[in-house]
Amino acid sequence: MRKWNFSAGPAAIPEEVLKEAQSEMLEWQSSGMSVMEMSHRSSQYIDIANKASQDLTDLLKIPNNYQVLFLQGGATLQFSMVPMNFGFKGVADYVLSGSWSKKAINEASKIVDVNVVCSSESSNFNNVPKESSWKRSENAAYLHYVANETIQGNALHIPPTTNAPLITDMSSVILSEPIDISKFSMIYAGAQKNIGPAGLTICIIKNEFLKTASIDLPGMLQYSKHADADSMFNTPPTFAWYLSGKVFAWLKGKGGLDSIGKINRLKAKKLYDFIDNSEFYTNPINRENRSIMNIPFLLKNSELNAEFLHDAENAGLLNLKGHRSVGGMRASIYNATPIEAVDALINFMGDFQSKHG
Ligand SMILES: Cc1ncc(COP(=O)(O)O)c(C=O)c1O
Repeated sequence: MRKWNFSAGPAAIPEEVLKEAQSEMLEWQSSGMSVMEMSHRSSQYIDIANKASQDLTDLLKIPNNYQVLFLQGGATLQFSMVPMNFGFKGVADYVLSGSWSKKAINEASKIVDVNVVCSSESSNFNNVPKESSWKRSENAAYLHYVANETIQGNALHIPPTTNAPLITDMSSVILSEPIDISKFSMIYAGAQKNIGPAGLTICIIKNEFLKTASIDLPGMLQYSKHADADSMFNTPPTFAWYLSGKVFAWLKGKGGLDSIGKINRLKAKKLYDFIDNSEFYTNPINRENRSIMNIPFLLKNSELNAEFLHDAENAGLLNLKGHRSVGGMRASIYNATPIEAVDALINFMGDFQSKHG
């Protein structure tokens, strides 16, 4: 029996999508084979890939002067590919607002001079420092930030203003609400949260910026090679791309990002309101930086953590354990997690509180 899954990633995938994929598992549309068994160069697969790319473009309203790439290596490889491709000219500016920005900075520091414009590390990343306090470089090659820190559950909801090309890791927030793509030179995201299965990474890069990328790198590490080959420089993760296409079609069917964005805000508000009104649970993040996708919470009495998780699992609520580096709990409520799941979680938290409060 399927249960409510609050995993941070790989995360819940809409049941309708899984059922549809199940029905096509043995044979895709009278092709005599499964999608997994198709050549990525076949016209059948190219149609699947193009439709997915078009649906993603429609959902995010990606202007036509951007490339949409379907790559591998996760967001983690982008931590290195970004400075390799775009950082060879001087200093790169980075915002340090959580564990993922820290990893991005560590990787970039091996390749380029990094200027950390601000850091909230001394306050356990419970906020994103105000832009007015950032110490930017004069001529940064780019400014990088993580829009939503999945582990700490903080977010910068409005993209910063900058003269430097703006690059963001949107792994845990992409497709959760409308965004203005034109503000960015590059957006990247691992798929395994709001997009589809692990193994696929989406990069959206402005043509003008892509033209400045290094061509002095191994082919697999050059964004321009991937763009020139329509993301088929080598064999792409065909099944993940196909399944992600189904998620995009599902999202379009739900009314797109305006409509899912409203639902996501409502889900997050319900859970934050419940936590804020309770004496038993707390959320450590500054209000204006609270994530709408990953909501960490602490029990007043941490000795009850194991019992909370055990009882939650028995109640059909899975993967609520916080990341090992921060402890406590975390509910990841991506697009595929319906409001019923959040209601079920709140009911459970209320019952647990009455039992132990
Ligand atoms: C914001 C963010 N960036 C990067 C990563 C790393 O992604 P991957 O495991 O796909 O390399 C994650 C994974 O959870 C993430 O949440």
